[in-house]
Amino acid sequence: MSEPLLSVRDLRVSYQVGRNFVHAVDGASFDIPRGSITGLVGESGCGKTTVARALTRVIAENAAITGGQILFDGKDLAKIPEKEMNALRWRDIAFVPQSAMNSLDPVYTVEYQLDEVLRRRGGLSRKQSRARSEELFEMVGIDANRLNDYPHQFSGGMRQRVAIALALALDPKLIIADEPVTALDVIVQRQILDQLKELQTRLGVSVILVTHDISVVAYICDRTVVMYAGKVAESGTMQSTLTAPSHPYTMGLRNAFPDLQGAASGILVPIEGAPPNLANPPAGCRFKPRCPFALDICGTEPPVIDVAPGHPVLCHRANESAALRIEAAKTETWMAPA
Ligand SMILES: Nc1ncnc2c1ncn2[C@@H]1O[C@H](COP(=O)(O)OP(=O)(O)O)[C@@H](O)[C@H]1O
Ligand SMILES: [Mg+2]
Repeated sequence: MSEPLLSVRDLRVSYQVGRNFVHAVDGASFDIPRGSITGLVGESGCGKTTVARALTRVIAENAAITGGQILFDGKDLAKIPEKEMNALRWRDIAFVPQSAMNSLDPVYTVEYQLDEVLRRRGGLSRKQSRARSEELFEMVGIDANRLNDYPHQFSGGMRQRVAIALALALDPKLIIADEPVTALDVIVQRQILDQLKELQTRLGVSVILVTHDISVVAYICDRTVVMYAGKVAESGTMQSTLTAPSHPYTMGLRNAFPDLQGAASGILVPIEGAPPNLANPPAGCRFKPRCPFALDICGTEPPVIDVAPGHPVLCHRANESAALRIEAAKTETWMAPA
C-alpha cells in the first residue's frame, strides 16, 4: 500500500464534565489510503463524531486532544497552530457535520453559502464562483436554477446534496461526512450514497463516512474502521472486515442491521445491552460485558493482533475468529443470556 493520505496514531480526545473526564477517544489508530472511501462505524456513543471532529479540530469547547498524532500530508494536525489548521479546512479537508442538512443557514440562499466558501476561502472571483457553483450543483444532481433558493425550499435529501456540494467546493483531498444519510428514507439514502460513491471515484478524493449503520458501510465503502467505546475494534478492507469480521463486535453489528439493497438477510438480532459510559468504562476489553465469546482473560487489556496485513483486531481471541464467525452467524449465540 502506498503512503496513506491520513494516519491516525493513538489518538486521545477527552471531554471535561465538571471535575470528570469522558475519554471519548481512547487510543485510536487507523490509516486512510488515498482515493478510498472508509466507513467509520459503531453504535451511538462510541466516539465516531469525536474522532471526525478531532481530525478537523472543530471540537467542542470542553474537549481537548490529549494525545496521539494525526498525520496528513507530512503534518501532524494534532499539533499545528490553529492558523495553519484553518488554512487546511475546506481546501484540503472538508467536514460535513452531523445533520448538515439542518445546519445550512436559513436566511441565506444556497448560492450565497457556496459563494462564501468559494470566494472567501478559495479566492475565486464572483464570476468564477458562480460558474463553480453551477458546476457543483450539476455534480450533485441539482438543477443550477435552484442556486438562488433558500435551504427550506429543498427537501432533506436535497439539502444533504447541497452540503456535499459545499464540501466539494474547493476540491479537497479528504471529505469527512458525519452521518450524511441518517435522517433520510432508504430510497433517498441510496441515491445520495450512489452519488457520493460516483463522485468519490471520479474525483479520486478520499472520504470518511461516519455512520452507526453498518449496512451503509457495506453499500459503498471499500474500507472499514469499527469503533467501540472509544477504541478501534478492528479496521481493514471491506472484504476482510465485513465479509470476514474478526472482532465479535463487528460480527454482532453485521447481524443487527438489514442491508440497504432490501435483500432478504436473515433474522436481525441486536447485540444485547449498550456501549458503556465512557466516563467509567469497564476494565479490560470494553466489549466483554456484551460479548458472547468472552473468557476470563478478557478482563485484561486486549492486544492488537494483525489477523492479516493491514487488518488489526483488538481482541484476545482474534486468532480464533474463523471459528467464532461460525458461532456468531447463529441467532441463538446473541440471544443466550450473557
Ligand atoms: N460535548 C461533550 N461533552 C461531554 N461528553 C460528550 C460531548 N460530546 C460527546 N460526548 C460523549 O463522548 C462520547 C462519544 O460521543 P460521540 O463522539 O458523539 O459518539 P458517536 O458519534 O459515536 O455517537 C459519548 O459518551 C458522549 O456522551
Ligand atoms: Mg455521532
